[in-house]
Amino acid sequence: MKKRGFIFACTSKSESEMLSKNIVLTGRTYAPKLFAIKEGDYIFLYNLDTDILWGTFLAKGEPSYDKTLEIFGGKYPYYISVEPLNEIKKVNNAGRLLKRLSISWKDILTENGALYLKSILDNELFVDIKGEKLVDVDYRPPIFSTTLWDYPTQSYGDTKKGNNKYPGVTPAFIIYNLIWRYTEPGDLVCDPMAGSGTTIDVCKEERRRVVAFDIVPTRNDIIQADARNLPLKDNSIDMVFIDSPYGDNIKYNDHPLNIGNIPATKEEFFDELEKVMKECLRVLKEGKVLAWLIGDQWAKGVFVPVGLKIYERLTKYFVPIDIVSVVRRNQSSNTPFWHSKALQHNFYLRGFKYLIIVKKASSNDKKVKNLKISWGFYER
Ligand SMILES: C[S@@+](CC[C@H](N)C(=O)[O-])C[C@H]1O[C@@H](n2cnc3c(N)ncnc32)[C@H](O)[C@@H]1O
Repeated sequence: MKKRGFIFACTSKSESEMLSKNIVLTGRTYAPKLFAIKEGDYIFLYNLDTDILWGTFLAKGEPSYDKTLEIFGGKYPYYISVEPLNEIKKVNNAGRLLKRLSISWKDILTENGALYLKSILDNELFVDIKGEKLVDVDYRPPIFSTTLWDYPTQSYGDTKKGNNKYPGVTPAFIIYNLIWRYTEPGDLVCDPMAGSGTTIDVCKEERRRVVAFDIVPTRNDIIQADARNLPLKDNSIDMVFIDSPYGDNIKYNDHPLNIGNIPATKEEFFDELEKVMKECLRVLKEGKVLAWLIGDQWAKGVFVPVGLKIYERLTKYFVPIDIVSVVRRNQSSNTPFWHSKALQHNFYLRGFKYLIIVKKASSNDKKVKNLKISWGFYER
C-alpha cells in the first residue's frame, strides 16, 4: 500500500502539547484529512505563529474521535498518535519553502512529496524531484462549501467505492461530503436502497457504522428488505442517505417490489416513495439528517420535475436544510449524438441532480416565525 504525507498546523500554544505527547489533534474543518491517515504515513507539524515545520513523524495506530477529550477545552476531538521517525528536526521559513514547492499545508502529499519534505528536514538536499507529483489531489474529494458540487470521477482514493458498472451507481464524493457534514466517526448511517454498496464502502473508510438494504442485494453486506418496511428500531439511525430510482428509466431488476419499475409520469411512483420517506422518519433519531439524491425526467417530449415533487413530499414530514445541485458527468447521454439531438429537437439533457437535505424535527429547532435577520448591506 502506498504511503502518504500529512502536514498539520498548530500554534505556539498547541505545539508543545502535540510534540510532548506525540499526538496530532484537530477540529472539524481538518477532521476529514486526519481520518485519511493510515498507520505508517508521514506526518509533519507546521507552527503557523513561528513559521517552523517539524518532522518527521510516522502515524501510529488509527485516527480516533473522542468528544470528551479535555485537551484545548475539547475543541480538537479528532486525533492520531505519532512517533518520531528519527530525531525530530525543524525547518525555518517553512511557508516560503512550501510555496516554492507549490504545496499548501492543507494538501495531502504523495509518498514522494512526503519523502522530499523529510529529506529537506534531514538536510539531504541532493534528492531530485523534477517531474515528481508532490501533492495527491485524487486521494480524497474536497468538502464543498457551496451548493454546487462537482467532482470528475465516481470513486476516489486507493479502494473502489461501490461498482461503477452498476446502473445508477452513486458518485462516492456525495456520500463522503454528507457524512463529514452530518455525522461523527462511530455514528450509524443507513442506506435503504443500497444498489452496489457505495454508501457502505465510503462509511467504512471514514469509520462510520453502516447498515444497508436493497430489494435485490448485490453483495453479502446488503440486507434484503423493502425500503418501505425496514428491519430497524425507531429512532436508531444517525443519518440516512438514499439515491432512489428517478422513475423507470433504469432497469435495476424485475422484483415486483422494485419502485424503479414504476414510471415517474404516474403519481403512484411518488406515493410509493412517500412510504419510504415515512420509514426514514421512523428510524431516524430526532434532529438527524436524511439526504435524498434525485434527478428530473425528460422523455418523449414530456418533462417531469421529479426533484421538485420529491422535495414537496419530503417537506410534509421533514424540516428542510438545503438543496445541493450535483453536476452530472458520466451519464450515458453525455455523447456527441445526444448533445446534437438536444439542439436539433430543442430539449435539454439533464445537467444536474438534486441532493435534497432535510432533517427530522427536534425540540432544539429554531422558531422560523420569530426569526429576525439584520442584513449587512455593502456598497458595490
Ligand atoms: C439508484 S440505485 C442505488 C445506487 C446505489 N446508491 C449505488 O451506489 O450503487 C436505486 C436502488 O433502489 C433499489 N430499490 C428499488 N425499489 C426498492 C425497494 N422497494 N426497496 C429497497 N430497494 C429498492 C434498486 O434495486 C436499486 O438498487
